[in-house]
Amino acid sequence: MRHLMNPLDFTVEELEKLFDLANDMEKNPDRYANVCHGKKLATCFYEPSTRTRLSFESAMLNLGGSVLGFSSADSSSAAKGESVSDTIRVISCYADICAMRHPKEGAPMVAAERSKIPVINAGDGGHQHPTQTLTDLLTIRSLKGKLGGFTIGLCGDLKFGRTVHSLIEALARYDDVNFIFISPEELKVPDYITQMLKNKNIGYEEVISLDEVIGRLDLLYMTRVQRERFFNEEDYIRLKDFYILTKEKMKAAREDMLVLHPLPRVNEISVEIDDDPRAAYFKQVQYGVYVRMALIYTLLGLEQGGDKAC
Ligand code: CP
Repeated sequence: MRHLMNPLDFTVEELEKLFDLANDMEKNPDRYANVCHGKKLATCFYEPSTRTRLSFESAMLNLGGSVLGFSSADSSSAAKGESVSDTIRVISCYADICAMRHPKEGAPMVAAERSKIPVINAGDGGHQHPTQTLTDLLTIRSLKGKLGGFTIGLCGDLKFGRTVHSLIEALARYDDVNFIFISPEELKVPDYITQMLKNKNIGYEEVISLDEVIGRLDLLYMTRVQRERFFNEEDYIRLKDFYILTKEKMKAAREDMLVLHPLPRVNEISVEIDDDPRAAYFKQVQYGVYVRMALIYTLLGLEQGGDKAC
């Protein structure tokens, strides 16, 4: 039985296979319309979500399976004090696979250790968001035709943004990738990430100004300032509009630069950019369904004709 806690749980070769499968599912939906018939996905979300929870549910329904779950800690027995370990033992009796989001870093890992079914980390605190990274990689691969040879700028809240942490670790495995981290001093990328890049001899720069570097980027990954991870509201208010990508700023960007964003967006990308052909963030949403379809199929062992469920 296999879980997904971190994008690095899959080798680069396994990811290629997963993305090929996702592309095949996109092209041939009928071929996969009943492959999960009789299987159930539980979505256990202790933190708010629109995309991740609903794209998991949409993915399972596209595969002919069923879904059950809860969308907040308050509507589960966590509100009465039940532990994640106990909850997953219970869910293992109801479902064949579980996607879990939790505000505490490592909670899905704790669940995986006690689970009888595959557990997917759907975001744990400010730590990791592996299925967003699979979404981002599939989007880049599908729109650019490759995953290496890029200068990628990551802009905004690089401290608390779990999507950023997962994406940097994942992209660092591809050839000829350089990073430009664009953030205010208080929201710099954590040291463990820059140390990892130094150890691998991968080039990175840390800058404050987006305007100074936007013309050098192949990919611009914008992020929201993560209000829910701040200890005080004043700091959030001071930093929340530090970066706003506008039509004017996009004039300095390359014609083929992609703008990515995990969403939800607050103010950091002006809506006037949405019609720019370089805006790829709503395409990401669609790719998120295909890659989660491929992930469910793979973790359930259906490619081997097997059954990983209890
Ligand atoms: N990208 C993402 O994780 O969005 P949600 O919080 O809406 O799931």
